[in-house]
Amino acid sequence: MSAVREHFGSRLGFILAAAGSAVGIGNLVAFPVAATKSGGGAFLLVYALFVFLICLPVMMAELALGRRSDRDPVGAYRQLSGGSHLWRIPGWLALITPFMIAIFYLVVTVWILGYLIGTLRGNLDQLATEAYFLQFINSPVVFFYLVLLMFGINGILALGVKDGIERAAKTLMPMLFVMLLGLVIFVLTRENAALGLKYYLIPDFAKLNGEVVSKAMAQAFFSLSLGMGIMITYGSYMKKQDSVPGSARAVAITDTLVAFTAGLLILPSVFHFNPQIDPAELSDSSAGMIFLFLPKIFLALQDSVGYAGASAVAAVFFFLVLVAAVTSLVSIIEVPLATLRDEYCMSRKKAIYTVGLVQFVLAIGCAVSFGMADWLTQFVQLAGENKSFFDLVEIIFYDTILPLNGLLVCLFVIYKWKKINFDQELQIGDPGFAGSLSQKYINFSLGTFIPLILLLIFINTVALKFF
Ligand code: PHE
Repeated sequence: MSAVREHFGSRLGFILAAAGSAVGIGNLVAFPVAATKSGGGAFLLVYALFVFLICLPVMMAELALGRRSDRDPVGAYRQLSGGSHLWRIPGWLALITPFMIAIFYLVVTVWILGYLIGTLRGNLDQLATEAYFLQFINSPVVFFYLVLLMFGINGILALGVKDGIERAAKTLMPMLFVMLLGLVIFVLTRENAALGLKYYLIPDFAKLNGEVVSKAMAQAFFSLSLGMGIMITYGSYMKKQDSVPGSARAVAITDTLVAFTAGLLILPSVFHFNPQIDPAELSDSSAGMIFLFLPKIFLALQDSVGYAGASAVAAVFFFLVLVAAVTSLVSIIEVPLATLRDEYCMSRKKAIYTVGLVQFVLAIGCAVSFGMADWLTQFVQLAGENKSFFDLVEIIFYDTILPLNGLLVCLFVIYKWKKINFDQELQIGDPGFAGSLSQKYINFSLGTFIPLILLLIFINTVALKFF
């Protein structure tokens, strides 16, 4: 076991670091597009309900597990279950899941870095052609950017929790807020911006159906970085006297506000570019939007602000997405590092080299699965379709295991670790919490309908993606 556990220096530091984890590529692009296609304000309402009524209690459960045990996810389950063999499984799942999600997320972030550099070099006109994307992701320069990115992220991690993760969050997150607001103000003053706002905000309840509702749920769960062991690990670095419910609420509010604000940027830009566009045509995937569609929108800005102006807007946008992705990657890579340190007594440095090397190899496997290596491009057949290695990692770990991990957290906290211990942890720094409605709701929901909902999502995904 590592001798002295590192901690965040302040409550704000923790909130910014956890919000840095939560605010990611999903918030900035996937959320606004999903909202617009799925009923605008009606989707926003359903999403907000999921965040606060379902995801927030799960976040508190994860943070409490981490803080009480002072351990990584594997150690947290082992210790709080009293050494049960069965309950080791969720611990290991909460280690493997972030490890693998980090891999496909690294690859997408590498592309973002490539697009940022491309824009800065004055190539926005090339980036705005669809052919560029395939050519770029299949060019060897991707490996160079991967090395660059991994050095940057592991450089932050090498400095530790307070001087690395927390300091990076305290610098990068305010920067992200300012850039986002700046872009929103710029875009809202463009022609036809109001049309985009209309699609984004006006509720269309007729569009809500089972599929939309489960999409909103999955999006909320992923967006808050749940089911990935991240909040367990970050919980273990929280100060002993800080309130878990209060901090969790602050993180959920920040994450949701950023997602909401991103919509004020994306939709008005789309409608400025083409006031006649049918939002149903927008790509569901973040990658499709970021790399195939948005560059065209930025380029079109040259009519009003010139090529340099359009490139500057694009560069700020790609930088914004890069910052969001990097703070998420830092949090997700910290999970396996914590396990190696806590369970195998490794030094931080040695853990970084070990995890970094394996992730580098696997990330290359993902990066070349778009054409460079045939066998990885057509890796498996699932539900009658050829899937690449990249797709497989995403389907197994992001689509499927995530809700399963969430389900196990709920069951563990309420039925194995027990409500009484959980409640004690939540009351620290928040004396009014004991006996409050909020406490009753959290206890009841985590033991009943939240695991049920997560189970349904899990079963639905397995049926849809594998058969
Ligand atoms: N909340 C992140 C997002 O919206 C999810 C994530 C966290 C992904 C950490 C990777 C690493 O993108």
